[in-house]
Amino acid sequence: MITGSNMVALLHALATDHSDRALNIIVTEPDLDDEVRDSLYRAIAENTEPDEQARAVGDVIRDIDGDQFLINECYRLAFYLSDQWAEMAENPLFARFSANRAAIVLDKWVHYFPIYTRHLERFRGRSVNVLEVGVYRGGGLDLWSSYLGPEAKLVGLDIDEAAVRAVKGRFQVVLGDQADPDVLRKINDDYGPFDVVIDDGGHTMDQQIVTIETLFPLLNDGGVFIVEDTHTSYWTAFGGGLHEPTSFVEWTKPRIDDLHSRHHAGIDRSSVWATEVDGMHWYDSVVVLDKKHRFRPFNEMAGSASYIWADRFSEGLGVEMLATRDQALHDRDRLRDELAHVYAVETDAEKAEQLEKAWRTTEELRLARAELSQTRERLAQLGGQLSSQEEELTSTRNDLLESWEQIRGIRKTSSWRVTKPLRAVRRLLP
Ligand SMILES: C[S@@+](CC[C@H](N)C(=O)[O-])C[C@H]1O[C@@H](n2cnc3c(N)ncnc32)[C@H](O)[C@@H]1O
Repeated sequence: MITGSNMVALLHALATDHSDRALNIIVTEPDLDDEVRDSLYRAIAENTEPDEQARAVGDVIRDIDGDQFLINECYRLAFYLSDQWAEMAENPLFARFSANRAAIVLDKWVHYFPIYTRHLERFRGRSVNVLEVGVYRGGGLDLWSSYLGPEAKLVGLDIDEAAVRAVKGRFQVVLGDQADPDVLRKINDDYGPFDVVIDDGGHTMDQQIVTIETLFPLLNDGGVFIVEDTHTSYWTAFGGGLHEPTSFVEWTKPRIDDLHSRHHAGIDRSSVWATEVDGMHWYDSVVVLDKKHRFRPFNEMAGSASYIWADRFSEGLGVEMLATRDQALHDRDRLRDELAHVYAVETDAEKAEQLEKAWRTTEELRLARAELSQTRERLAQLGGQLSSQEEELTSTRNDLLESWEQIRGIRKTSSWRVTKPLRAVRRLLP
């Protein structure tokens, strides 16, 4: 892969919109597999915006199962190069998290912030009891405390004494293992019941499952249970794996059936998951359960005057009939409209046909007229020719008559008569 310092240079080149430099780093990197070099090159060359390029580079590194840290840096850069950070800056938790850079160390996936505010907003300014499982150096407790306000009572649980020492004097933190139900019950007895539980502890499957199975039933009605980093359900190091039956995510799936327990006899209706879960929310790496004792689901009807079963039954029928009648009337009106539309279209079609016919007749008439005038012109031409031929004939005839007169005159002369025998002899000669 690209060396660390070159990766920094590459990301810096993208951040400052110098993709030519970034491409140069990829081309000249000595120990890069040709296929990876080609993919990285295309990730930059085939995208125009720096955020798209950084995201695409991250995708290439992720596809080859590269360094998680490098992938994170690429996606981080892509986020800050796009407008997404501006939208996120509106989030009060993220705003505080980003601004307070000198705060106690706090490491969070950025897409968690809107999830927290969506589910914790309603507790702000209220006297709520909050348990954070997994405290580390107290950065989380600090954040919740500032967000929820001075009325909120916070307590932490951590297996590491360093965590207890780190927050000493600021927050109450109990030392103990979240995978031990007795520890959880004890902390609930001493500091609970809780309105909010945030599980950000060890993130192994048994830790998450034991914690939720022990503490969710003890949560106050109207409370919320948040489990962080549930991507560990896909990581073997934490006991997870895709469709691994013992993973936490797999544990959550039957809860969907529990939510619908009143709609199928095969589902246990008495479990806490069937009666106390108001809603569940699955996010990328976070699962949230809302706790609320649910009344049995039933269907209600408006527009009915009575609440007595028999009357309701008959009124139900009446309402059904009215609804059917309304629907029938509605259908009738719709059909009428459609029919009127069909008529209108038909009439229009007829009109169009007539217009077409009239147009065709007019056109035929125009053509016939043109032909007639052409014929007339031709006739006039022919008439002209005829009269000039007649004139020519008359003058020829006159010429003939004139010649005939001359011949007759010649025949009457004495020379004609004297030369008669000569002409007879000439006729006999061959
Ligand atoms: C990710 S850190 C918590 C970070 C903290 N919530 C924050 O926002 O700063 C995880 C913590 O869980 C604790 N932890 C690990 N396994 C535990 C367990 N079995 N029971 C209780 N805490 C545990 C670790 O000691 C560590 O302090």
